Amino acid sequence: MYALIQKNQEEALDHARRGSRGETVPGGRGLQILYCEGERRYFLDAGRGFLVDRDYRTALGTGFYDRDLELDSLEEKLQAVRTLIVYGPRNVGKSELVRYFLAKKLSGGRLARILRRAVIIDARLKHAEPYLGRVGVDALRLAERLLDALGAPRGLVGLVEELASLAALPLTVFIDEFHLLIRGSLEDALAELEAAAGALSKRGEAKVRLVVSVSEGFFATSRAWRRLYGYSTSYMLVEPMNPQAFKPLYEEYRGKYGCNVDLNTFTRLAGTSPGYLVDLCPRSGKLLEEWLRERLNHLDTSLHAAAEAAGIGHRESIHVAAQLLAGRSIRDPRERRFIEKLVEENIAYPCIKQARYLPQLPLYAAAVEAAREAGLDDITQLAPEQLKLSRVEPKYCRE
Ligand SMILES: Nc1ncnc2c1ncn2[C@@H]1O[C@H](COP(=O)(O)OP(=O)(O)OP(=O)(O)O)[C@@H](O)[C@H]1O
Ligand SMILES: [Mg+2]
Repeated sequence: MYALIQKNQEEALDHARRGSRGETVPGGRGLQILYCEGERRYFLDAGRGFLVDRDYRTALGTGFYDRDLELDSLEEKLQAVRTLIVYGPRNVGKSELVRYFLAKKLSGGRLARILRRAVIIDARLKHAEPYLGRVGVDALRLAERLLDALGAPRGLVGLVEELASLAALPLTVFIDEFHLLIRGSLEDALAELEAAAGALSKRGEAKVRLVVSVSEGFFATSRAWRRLYGYSTSYMLVEPMNPQAFKPLYEEYRGKYGCNVDLNTFTRLAGTSPGYLVDLCPRSGKLLEEWLRERLNHLDTSLHAAAEAAGIGHRESIHVAAQLLAGRSIRDPRERRFIEKLVEENIAYPCIKQARYLPQLPLYAAAVEAAREAGLDDITQLAPEQLKLSRVEPKYCRE
């Protein structure tokens, strides 16, 4: 059951029972039903704007927070295309979102036809699992067998084609971090994905749907988009969490495991991507500074690489980065090459809707702005107090 944070659950349920999808329930508290499935009611507290599912356990060991918009968007996109690419900043919650979606949706509802069966292939662990036991044993054996073969060229196409020819379908295949399955470069992985999307789009009936999550910015570059478009594909962006929802998640996490970094410092450094809780919470003092130095080193190396790719001098590159990461749109092809390289380097991510780019961490935007202001060429020389983290307001593509 979903719970409303800091609300009287019984009262909320009572309101919810009387409502229907998308309807604001009378009672002056702005409760909204998101969707109904039989007796189950999923609802949103419109006043606060987020959900928490306390019955679900994430890999973090907490409930599942927020993401109602993304869950809706996943549902819509899955109905429309054969291949869905889930992308977004590192640690933002892409994998958990799809897993949660599958866990909740396999039981029925509007996607019952296409989500009767699913296989999750965890590319990191090289492991295939049938979700909620709904996949025929043969399909699972096949998935595992093919998992071994995936290193071979066109292994991914082989997998989807074999699965598509099975009788007991439709089937949704979610490959988490799919590029880790493919031996070779990211370029090779993109070629595999393109071939698999092409093969699926050519089949008459939509028996197999492929959902892949990618944590490498490489797959979110416009070059990758262009390669995949036209094959019944869609991209879905997962962004850092709503700050209002992140706060109770942070508190739940801190209550369970402790956190040395206060919420304010945490969000100014790492924003609201839940994966950084594990990374940052145990740190304080020197260890926290070490994390900061590592991020600044990575930013510095990436800026050099991007400046070189775009033919921009280093000093100018800091100015351009400061402006683009603050939300200015691209002015010329050089700037496009520059920012696309920063996407590839996992510094920025594209917000297609607003035709601009956003920083993966608020720290990156603060650092380039501070270096620009101080006239510093070397970002790694920035002292923590120079960063003026409080000046960077997080921005979202969904705004
Ligand atoms: N909505 C959520 N509520 C609570 N915890 C979450 C939520 N989303 C993700 N998490 C937790 O945050 C951590 C990072 O999530 P996840 O691994 O899904 O991120 P990711 O975007 O796939 O990361 P990567 O870039 O490494 O692929 C995980 O421990 C996960 O359990
Ligand atoms: Mg992931």
